[in-house]
Amino acid sequence: MSSQIIPVEPFDYVVFGGTGDLAERKLLPALFHRQEAGQFTEPTRIIGASRGDLSHDDYRKFAAEALKKFLKPGEYTEEAVARFTARLFYVSVDAGSEKGWDSLRKLLDEGKDRVRAFYLAVGPAIFGPISERIRDHKLITKNTRIVVEKPIGRDLASALELNDTIGKVFREEQIYRIDHYLGKETVQNLMALRFANALYEPLWNSAHIDHVQITVAESVGLENRAGYYDKAGALRDMVQNHMLQLLCLVAMEAPSSMAAEAVRDEKLKVLRALKTIDASNADKFTVRGQYRAGASEKGAVRGYLEELEGGVSNTETYVAIKAEIGNWRWAGVPFYLRTGKRLAARVSEIVITFKPIPHSIFDSSAGRISENQLIIRLQPDEGVKQSLMIKDPGPGGMRLREVSLDMSFAQAFDVRNPDAYERLLLDVIRSNQTLFMRRDEVEAAWRWVDPILKAWEETGQPVQGYTAGTWGPSHSIALIERDGRTWHE
Ligand code: BG6
Repeated sequence: MSSQIIPVEPFDYVVFGGTGDLAERKLLPALFHRQEAGQFTEPTRIIGASRGDLSHDDYRKFAAEALKKFLKPGEYTEEAVARFTARLFYVSVDAGSEKGWDSLRKLLDEGKDRVRAFYLAVGPAIFGPISERIRDHKLITKNTRIVVEKPIGRDLASALELNDTIGKVFREEQIYRIDHYLGKETVQNLMALRFANALYEPLWNSAHIDHVQITVAESVGLENRAGYYDKAGALRDMVQNHMLQLLCLVAMEAPSSMAAEAVRDEKLKVLRALKTIDASNADKFTVRGQYRAGASEKGAVRGYLEELEGGVSNTETYVAIKAEIGNWRWAGVPFYLRTGKRLAARVSEIVITFKPIPHSIFDSSAGRISENQLIIRLQPDEGVKQSLMIKDPGPGGMRLREVSLDMSFAQAFDVRNPDAYERLLLDVIRSNQTLFMRRDEVEAAWRWVDPILKAWEETGQPVQGYTAGTWGPSHSIALIERDGRTWHE
């Protein structure tokens, strides 16, 4: 089966932080794949911008190296990479001075009518200065957009400030706040599953759903990001954005269409309906953890503090939360969230557990009747699994057993699973904001996260140690078992 490719208008993508880690690992490979899929029309350029003094050719070499490193075997061919690097340019610019801005302007002037996107793959501290220089150098055309990456603030106050700073230069319709989880295939599939099937929606509420679990488990540790991560922690790094976005897509009312405002309005209502967790209940509804030395698939690994190299830190590398949504649809249905580094495996999934049947007609020899579960696997092996009870095949009495309708997208469809950035980078060009966070969503997410952060600080809620390579601290098991439920394994 092949997917339909609709070419986009010619564009100039200016990537600030063009020689950085994100550009190398994600942005350049993603753009390369879209080129090879035949989605670009000419003339289309990608312009790396950063402080270093590189020539266009140096940048092309840098990009070719990055592709060699990050494309899968078989995806890298000299011809394809040469086609790609031919559209690369480089400008050395300094966010803090006038250096390079005239050169950037001259380069961009060659494509005044093209769609123009500025991707800020840089720290949030320079979002403001870059935006202002873009404006002052008159680089904003009627076809211009700006893309920003998280972290959008480290609390509500700093997020408001950052949004104000960017908002002084760009209108909301020009601002694309990336949450790469929204670009993941299975996350979009969640909307298809809910709203392109008549089957689930009538059951999608507190009358039929017992609880929801959202797990984003990583096996990696700090990965040379100590400077950022130790100041952030799992709640800011993963929950405020990715996990709350997943929760919104599970919990939102059906939007009237896939239009950006319709979807974002519904997500916002969910965020606003989340029940507050603060100093009065944080110890009951949240668990913080930090990994100690242990093992990963690749052998022995150091603990978080050892990775920090002698650092003392109270930062959580794991968090579990029992969240509740105070509205008619979800009253009394807990949403258990958990995420962490150095866990037993890399698994992200959403598990919807339905309520038990109201009455059993079978006698005890039939065995236990498990609740139906719908499992949406984000990674690895994206797919959907629905558990059902059936009669155990064969003669003999009526014995029941649980089976799964299990669909792995990789096995079912012969298409490459695109990286989230491929979809999102081109949605910017297509001017489709559905999978991007609107300003009020980011702020509403912080409004819920802030009291948790404050509670942890005020009450000194400790981080519970867990051994690297396990499923997190025992307190997180207690968090869910207290309610008579267990984490999905
Ligand atoms: C990022 C976080 O946003 O998402 C990282 O900053 C995390 O800490 C990453 O590792 C996880 O993304 P993915 O796509 O690998 O699940």
